[in-house]
Amino acid sequence: MGGVTHVASETFKGVEVVRAFGGKEYEEKRFAKASGYNLRQSLKLAKVDEISTPFIQILTFIAIAVLLWIGLSTDIRGGMDTGDFLSYLTAASLIAKPLRQLTGVNSKIQKGIAASQSIFEMMDEEAEVDEGATALQRAKGRLELKDVCFRYPGSDRNALNNINLTIEPGETVAFVGRSGSGKTTLVNLMPRFNNVSDGQIMLDDVPLEDYRLADLRRQVAIVNQQVVLFQDTVAHNIAYGDLAGVSEDDIIQAATAAHAMEFIEKLPEGLQTQVGEDGVMLSGGQRQRLALARAILKDAPLLILDEATSALDTESERYIQQALNRVMKNRTTLVIAHRLSTIENADKIVVMDQGQIVEVGSHQQLLEKDGAYAQLHRLQFSEPSQV
Ligand SMILES: Nc1ncnc2c1ncn2[C@@H]1O[C@H](COP(=O)(O)OP(=O)(O)OP(=O)(O)O)[C@@H](O)[C@H]1O
Ligand SMILES: [Mg+2]
Repeated sequence: MGGVTHVASETFKGVEVVRAFGGKEYEEKRFAKASGYNLRQSLKLAKVDEISTPFIQILTFIAIAVLLWIGLSTDIRGGMDTGDFLSYLTAASLIAKPLRQLTGVNSKIQKGIAASQSIFEMMDEEAEVDEGATALQRAKGRLELKDVCFRYPGSDRNALNNINLTIEPGETVAFVGRSGSGKTTLVNLMPRFNNVSDGQIMLDDVPLEDYRLADLRRQVAIVNQQVVLFQDTVAHNIAYGDLAGVSEDDIIQAATAAHAMEFIEKLPEGLQTQVGEDGVMLSGGQRQRLALARAILKDAPLLILDEATSALDTESERYIQQALNRVMKNRTTLVIAHRLSTIENADKIVVMDQGQIVEVGSHQQLLEKDGAYAQLHRLQFSEPSQV
């Protein structure tokens, strides 16, 4: 049954993609397949169910018949009189009903086992390694990456290769490079969403693994490339997790800094408006501004912005950039952006290609070097549509 609901819910959620890309037939086939499988399994179950009951019944009555047959002979009955024998027989035949019920229990257990399999698979997933003992109140924000390599499980090549990079407290470092060059993979190593396969990352000169995981993650505010919202109110989506319990004033302040207040005010119930499942009620830019507000509210020493303003129009982006410039002060910031205009003021620009760093320098230095960055820059600024 799980398969059928899974396909159905996926199709409903992705109905726009299904429609836009002509996926109707494909989804119909997928549903028919899942449904057919479900039907076959149910039939199998019904068959076992329907065979086992009469089978057990026949067995019981054969047993009673044998008992009767035996009971007819006085030699075997021994000292037992007819009354005793009859009560014995009655007791024996009463067993039949609970026995039949037992067969029902079996099929229920089988169903339960089948359903629990997927739960156990989930539970068998390894827990995050959290063996660090070093406590951390507030980091200064110095990051040092030494020969960092990373490979996704099941992949046959490294997503990151020998990354060496030092970031001083308070610096803003921008990562640019082609899609798939490893930018997201790299920044996701900082809150230890993944652990390095080789090499080491140090925060304030202590390896990341030595910190208590919860302490480490308190140091990082992140706006992911894919904004995740929860089926809850706007306010709860901004003040999420550890931030639950902050005052409404703080929420409004963060939302204002992220230029989110202007649209929140227009929502039917303001901050208390439900955003719908996965935030379907909001536009891409609005979702991004909520995620930014969430990160600003967290006020962590390490700020990671992965394409955090990509869904905004140029005007909103400029406003937010001003707000961000203020937020980025006094904290280490890692920014990933395809629009190069947003990162020109970064202290360092890191150009990545195929999991490696190919260039590091300021905007001016890299333009003068006339390498990969200069080329990217020329490409973007010669095509007005991309600016
Ligand atoms: N969860 C994953 N499992 C396996 N491979 C992955 C996973 N996520 C990313 N990759 C691979 O790692 C490489 C780097 O991906 P990454 O997401 O870091 O790129 P990116 O530079 O952030 O690209 P973009 O600019 O499109 O966001 C890609 O080749 C990608 O296919
Ligand atoms: Mg990315």
